[in-house]
Parts: sequence; C-alpha cells; structure tokens
Amino acid sequence: MPKKHYEWGYDGSVPEIGEHSLAKHRIIEDYVRRYIEILSANPRQSQLNLTIVDGFCGGGLYTFKNEVVPGSPLILLRTVRETEAKIKITRRKDFKINADFFFIDEALPHCNFLKNEIEHSEFKGELGKSIKIIVGQFETKATDIIRFIKNKGKAHRSLFFLDQYGWSDISLGTIRKIINELSYPEVLLTFAVDSLINYLNENLAGSRSLLSLELNRSDVQELLNRKREAGWRYLIQNELYRHIQNCTNAKHYTPFFIKSPKSGRSYWLLHLSKHVRARDEMATLHWDKQNHFVHHGKSGFHALGFDPSKDILEQFNLFDFNEINRIHSVDATTEQIPKLINDDKLWNSQGVSVEDIFSRLSNNSPVTKIIACEALIKLRKYNEVTIITKDGKPKPRANAMKWEDRIILPRQTNFLSIPKKE
Ligand SMILES: C[S@@+](CC[C@H](N)C(=O)[O-])C[C@H]1O[C@@H](n2cnc3c(N)ncnc32)[C@H](O)[C@@H]1O
Repeated sequence: MPKKHYEWGYDGSVPEIGEHSLAKHRIIEDYVRRYIEILSANPRQSQLNLTIVDGFCGGGLYTFKNEVVPGSPLILLRTVRETEAKIKITRRKDFKINADFFFIDEALPHCNFLKNEIEHSEFKGELGKSIKIIVGQFETKATDIIRFIKNKGKAHRSLFFLDQYGWSDISLGTIRKIINELSYPEVLLTFAVDSLINYLNENLAGSRSLLSLELNRSDVQELLNRKREAGWRYLIQNELYRHIQNCTNAKHYTPFFIKSPKSGRSYWLLHLSKHVRARDEMATLHWDKQNHFVHHGKSGFHALGFDPSKDILEQFNLFDFNEINRIHSVDATTEQIPKLINDDKLWNSQGVSVEDIFSRLSNNSPVTKIIACEALIKLRKYNEVTIITKDGKPKPRANAMKWEDRIILPRQTNFLSIPKKE
C-alpha cells in the first residue's frame, strides 16, 4: 500500500506539512477548545479531568511555506492550556484542567524530536509527569492507557486522536475496546478509505491487515462484487461506514472526508463517539471549515441512502460544506421533519425531542442542530409543528432550541406548503 510518510530526522530535518493536514489540525484545535468549554460550562465547577491520547503523534513540528508550524502534540498542549486560562478569567474561584497526555509513535527519532520540542517549550516541567512520550505501536499500548483512564476516575473523559497514514495500523477491535470500556471516550480516526478500496482484491482476502478490520473472505468477496456495479466506489464506502460503526460499537459518527488535492484521493476523518451531542459539535466544525471537507451524498437526513431506480452517480454528488448546501440542508430538513414524525407511531402520538430525532437520524447526514433548528423555526411559522419545552410549556417564538425541546405535529399537516425562499 503506498503511503506518504512524514519524517523527523536525527539531523533535525522537519517535514513539509500538506494543506489538508493543516485543516485537520484546525479541527483538532477547535474541537478540543469546544469540548473543554462545554464540559466546564458550570460556573461553580473548579476542575475538569481529561486524558488526551495522540496515538500517532509524529515529531511535533513542520514547515509550511517557509514557516514553522506545530504538529498535533503541541497543538493539543497549547489548546488545553489556553482554554484553561480563558475559563479561569471568568471564574471567581480557581479552575484547573487535570489533563494527562499520552504521545505515542513507533519511530524512535520522531519521539526524540518531540521530546526535544517539549523540553524547549513552556511544557518542559510536565514531561514524564502529565506528559508521557511512548515509543511503540499504538495497538500494543492501548490496553495500558485504557486502564490508566479507568483508574483516574469514573467519568473516563478521554479524546483519542488516531492519525494513521493509511487504514491498517489500528484494528477495529482496539477501537471497540476503547468505546466499550470507557464511559465518555471520543475517537478521531484518519482512515484512507480510497486506498483500502484500491487495495482490495481476492488474493488479499484473509490477510492480517484485512482481518484487523474484521473483513473476512466473504466480506471481501461481497465488496469486490460491488466493483461491477455503477457507483461502486460509493457503494463500497457506504458498506464500510456501516461496517466500521458496527464493529467499533460507536453509536454516533461523522462520515466526512478531507480533500487531499495532492494525492487526488479523499480520506475519512471519522469521529466516533457514544453521544449525539459530541457528534453534533464535530459536524458543526465541518461546516465552519467548509473548504476542506466533503461528503458523498445529499443534503438533509438519510443523506447516504440511495434510490436504486435512479441514476446512482447523480445521487452521490460531492457535497461541499458551503453556504448553498447549508440552505439546501435547511430546505431538505424542513421537508423531512414532519414526514419523519408522521411516519413514526410514537413520535406522531407523543411528539419527539430534538435529541431523539438526532439520535436516530443524524449519523449519515451533514445536518447539525443549528440547521435542524432553522428548519423547525420555519415549520413553526407555518404551523406545521408546535414546539414545547420538556416541561410542556409552549415555545411560540424562541429562536434557540434545546436538545430536550419537543416537536409535536398538529392534527392536520399540509406537508410541503412551505416556500423554500423567504
Ligand atoms: C501522519 S503522522 C502523524 C502526524 C501527527 N499526528 C500530526 O498531526 O502532527 C503518523 C505518525 O505515526 C507514526 N506511526 C506509524 N505507524 C504507527 C503505529 N502503528 N503506532 C504508532 N505510531 C505509528 C509514524 O512514525 C508517524 O510519525
């Protein structure tokens, strides 16, 4: 499998970073900041326990257009410290983030380079204490790290950044162990799905790397059979999403791609979690970083579903996270929500919370709570839905929706009576 490698040399040489990797770094930085802000929102809270694992950490420094830029470990360290300082200013009492960092890389020169970077940074004093640099393969270190997180307390708040080069360095079994054994883990996994699809062939069925993805001979054969159908690449991607979600036991995920203009291939930046709200935060960030992310599908819920009677290639459009598609997503969601509620006996009779709609429908879609709320406000204006609080109080005018708010269909609904443009 061809891989492009970043190398940090003993001679101090630093790799040049690609633009798509910078976009990934912005996601990591923004996500960690949002994560901490949300989990520290209670003004009386004086601390937050957290473990951050960078399982494929690299040397911590790059060049980009003749400038020096940090790698993921330094970004993580700085974001945690800066966010802690920002929150501290707003608190009467002290506020502290008890963060432990594990930086793992199989290449000794990369670990040495990173150690040197940290020794010359403001984090020097934490090396060997809250910051641990470990030489080795992530797979072989994961069990000890999971044990460490469990011993730290009950909440198990943990973020795993698994930035592998291709698709074969992490087994799905290890991710399942993280998801199953910890209460609040989140995993951000880089997965070069196109190179996996190109690599798939009959002779490799049964190979160790495919078995680590829990693809046995008959799974591989089924995927290969798809290669004879129109739109086969998208069909295989769709099956792989489902496969990864099932095997990792992650209830929620975002199925979005990072564009890699140089290699011409896209790869997934999969966010796997147990909580719909975590998933929503990650999806919201993709809209914010619109230029670098795509998904192969439609707007609205059920975005990855397809109608076999129609041209399959037309249904798997490249979906950019741009303003036009945001408007399409609001329109699609406005049409879908009343029908979805109407078609479900329980939802139709008792109403449904925003959270329940998302828990069931958001995985395969670019829809976020912000988009769905825009749609709900439109629907309310045209009397297609009523919105109430969890205690049953009507919300006839509020523009902000809570996850617990409930959507109720009126007895008579018109469906599609709403103008697209207002
Ligand atoms: C894409 S680079 C990491 C970039 C880094 N996350 C960043 O954003 O700055 C991948 C790194 O993973 C390391 N690596 C490759 N296979 C590994 C494995 N099985 N376990 C741990 N590290 C591995 C490589 O040596 C390389 O430094």
